Amino acid sequence: MPPAPNDPTSASPAPSGTPPHASVLPREVRAFLALRPGQTFVDATLGAGGHSLLLLPDLAPGGRLIGLDVDPAAQQIARARLEPEAQRLGVALVFVQRNFAELPAVLDELGGAAPHGILADLGVSSMQFDTPARGFSFQHDAPLDMRMDPALPHTGADLLAELGEAEIADLLYLHGGERGSRRIARAIVYEREAGRAVKTTGQLEALVRRALRVRGHQRIHPATRTFQALRIAVNREMDVLARFLEAAPERLAPGGTLAVISFHSGEDRLAKQRFKALHKTGRFRMVEKSVVQPGDDEARANPRSRSAKLRGLRRASDA
Ligand SMILES: C[S@@+](CC[C@H](N)C(=O)[O-])C[C@H]1O[C@@H](n2cnc3c(N)ncnc32)[C@H](O)[C@@H]1O
Repeated sequence: MPPAPNDPTSASPAPSGTPPHASVLPREVRAFLALRPGQTFVDATLGAGGHSLLLLPDLAPGGRLIGLDVDPAAQQIARARLEPEAQRLGVALVFVQRNFAELPAVLDELGGAAPHGILADLGVSSMQFDTPARGFSFQHDAPLDMRMDPALPHTGADLLAELGEAEIADLLYLHGGERGSRRIARAIVYEREAGRAVKTTGQLEALVRRALRVRGHQRIHPATRTFQALRIAVNREMDVLARFLEAAPERLAPGGTLAVISFHSGEDRLAKQRFKALHKTGRFRMVEKSVVQPGDDEARANPRSRSAKLRGLRRASDA
């Protein structure tokens, strides 16, 4: 499962003066969701609120936007960007700091809302990635944290301190497609047993370079796959996505659409398999048969968008 060459974990920071996170495939997402005034929309991965900001006018007047994010910092940024615009347009906002795997419970707590649109734009935001203290990037030396939700019990450093060598190798291969997974895992455990456990992004980056015996410039940084894999494990990204994909389609209002943007082949596979299975029931259909990806202009303007893949699933209006 190779990571895309431009997985966000390998990209360079966005230039200053741009929004805190450049939303990917904005026109395509808007067309997929086709929201109408008065409808309810769930942004399951609020981030900087960029997609939500774009979709607010479609819900006006009288609509409702429910924004989920596990990261309180993202919630704060999105709230500041969305509130003035929502007030001006007459759209109600509900912010919920929860994991999208818990969407059914969140909707029940909100009185059984049936959304007309749900968007999940997976992975980390540029704000998270570019904040050294969050520990997602090997571009800065910082504690190896990697939690999107700061309340999660285990950081990246904790996992490397606690897991066995085979478990570390498996997670690097499974989530990062790292062919040198065994060598890296062996080096992590060797250092740990010598009293030099990996605790920072800089230590992990240097260890991967040594373990893979990398010399000279590489097109993709040699630590990209390791960092991506560890982040996915810390945040249990595959598990929560599977739970979300199981439940979210059934919660759509008739005619409602679920849109998923992924940046990792494993995530895209989960969405594709689930959507295909539901398409076969006749109660849902795929919005587009094949996956939608950014065009050259968007990829040039926002290199982090290059590996994005959009899929949509629409509930039949009589289902
Ligand atoms: C790629 S960013 C979203 C950017 C947003 N679409 C925008 O345009 O600004 C992904 C966000 O989803 C959040 N996130 C990732 N996995 C999540 C999950 N399972 N539940 C809730 N939020 C999640 C992250 O904390 C991050 O803020």
